[in-house]
Amino acid sequence: MTASPKTAIILGTGLGQLASEITDTTEIPYKDIPNFPVSTVEGHAGKLIFGKLGGKDIMAMEGRFHFYEGYSMKEVTFPVRVMYELGIKTLFVSNAAGGMNPEFHIGDLMIITDHLNLFPEHPLRGKNIPTGPRFPDMHEPYDHELIAMADQIAEEKGITLRHGVYAGVQGPTFETPAEYRMFRIMGGDAVGMSTVPEVIVARHCGIRVFGVSIITDLGGFDNPVEVSHEEVQQAAATAQPKMTTIMREIIARS
Ligand code: HPA
Repeated sequence: MTASPKTAIILGTGLGQLASEITDTTEIPYKDIPNFPVSTVEGHAGKLIFGKLGGKDIMAMEGRFHFYEGYSMKEVTFPVRVMYELGIKTLFVSNAAGGMNPEFHIGDLMIITDHLNLFPEHPLRGKNIPTGPRFPDMHEPYDHELIAMADQIAEEKGITLRHGVYAGVQGPTFETPAEYRMFRIMGGDAVGMSTVPEVIVARHCGIRVFGVSIITDLGGFDNPVEVSHEEVQQAAATAQPKMTTIMREIIARS
């Protein structure tokens, strides 16, 4: 069992492949961890994996908790609190998201440079947990140095990366054409139903964050198209080797 990883990874919908690259693993199902919620959505296995990736000790969360599943924000972000207590210093988050930037294509990898918190409840609502201040700074939610490393690695490996703003929404409905248009006007490049609560809590704990969205569908505001969960999972699965490479290399080099 790995003693003290400094790096954690949250694997999003259809993005479990990275888990298979972790060696020397010890797996702990969420159901065996006191107070841990249990994941319900298809495509999320629900376990913590401790092991090695890129030559470093890491822990990975395969399966995350979404607000739309009915969990409270405290439950959604509980695993990040656990990571903090375990001594995690850097968090890698991934998700599947709908592309709204007209230059994006299905299968693109978007490095998250910033986010819009559009959830109806804030994850830090309530008595302040003193890992950080009552009014936390959010001027750099996603670490600039890690983004620069990702760009460098992508260039070396011939991987095309997009940069963009992730709009985090409650779901579980995918967006109407008017909603995609609204989130685009608000400054979003991609929209999804996760990540933002975990990132806010990580930052409140002083954990550095690197985030990646896989663009699994495109907001069809001019030409509305149907979106399904199966399609999202499939597009994520196809694009995930690129994501795995970027994350593994950042971990190996940092
Ligand atoms: N909207 C919201 N969440 C998503 C989408 C989308 O288009 N694609 C994958 N997750």
